[in-house]
Amino acid sequence: MSRRLTGQSALVTGSGRGIGRAIALRLAAEGAHVLVADIDRQAAADTVREIAETGAAATACHVDVTQRASVAAMVAQAVALRGRLDIAVSNAGIMDRAPFLTMTDEFWNHVLALNLSGAFICGQETARQMVAQGGGGRIVYVASNSGIFGGRGRAAYGASKAGLINLTQSMAIELAEHDIRVNAVAPGPTRTSAAQGDVPPPSVMARMPMARFGRPEEVAAVAAFLAAEESSFVTGHVYGADGGYTVAGMMEG
Ligand SMILES: NC(=O)c1ccc[n+]([C@@H]2O[C@H](COP(=O)([O-])OP(=O)(O)OC[C@H]3O[C@@H](n4cnc5c(N)ncnc54)[C@H](O)[C@@H]3O)[C@@H](O)[C@H]2O)c1
Repeated sequence: MSRRLTGQSALVTGSGRGIGRAIALRLAAEGAHVLVADIDRQAAADTVREIAETGAAATACHVDVTQRASVAAMVAQAVALRGRLDIAVSNAGIMDRAPFLTMTDEFWNHVLALNLSGAFICGQETARQMVAQGGGGRIVYVASNSGIFGGRGRAAYGASKAGLINLTQSMAIELAEHDIRVNAVAPGPTRTSAAQGDVPPPSVMARMPMARFGRPEEVAAVAAFLAAEESSFVTGHVYGADGGYTVAGMMEG
């Protein structure tokens, strides 16, 4: 494992489990101090323990990314620990689905509040800190292939992730003058819980060149690249980590 992030101060939202957990482990393995932020205190503590067992550094943080004061407190905790914030990964999100015709306002608002407004709040609070400390920083969003094309039951989820992709682009433009890069990784079907089974459903497999779930660690590797100096001329982009899912057209020949 390279040590591209030695001495950097990072935070990752939703890092108590799943993709966020893998990103926190990866950034810590590359040398960053990671603030493991999650609404689930126990899950955050578990990730911190796992990181500590590898000999790397991390601290747990309770956050609800839908609440401005909670996000501001998370940023303040990162700064209190390390004196600055270099890397912010906004990953917390839900993938809940509902049929369009019967979708309630409550459902729509809940998905958008967490996946899009939460990402806006995290992006704004972390960018303000990066500007206040003299500029420089990297913000990485976790989008989804569902933000790139439509999907059954995914009107709210897909809209939230499509919005997140444009947020990434617009922030990249406005924050470039502060030397803050903003990019997103867009996972395809990723096995983050046993509930998802061993393989994606046949309808997904039919247009999945690599014909398997992604692993959270494979998404984390892309997030780490976007957080590292190695990607110094990359901003405003969305990197698919999806086994070719979003580029596949006709699969027979
Ligand atoms: N797993 C996939 O197949 C997949 C595919 C594409 C995109 N994604 C995206 O990746 C991200 C992570 O997904 P995952 O599969 O790891 O999910 P997950 O449910 O395994 O983990 C999400 C984490 O976010 C936390 N969280 C939920 N609400 C929060 C809040 N208000 N504030 C702070 N933390 C909160 C949860 O406690 C949990 O630890 C999401 O944004 C999701 O949309 C996942």
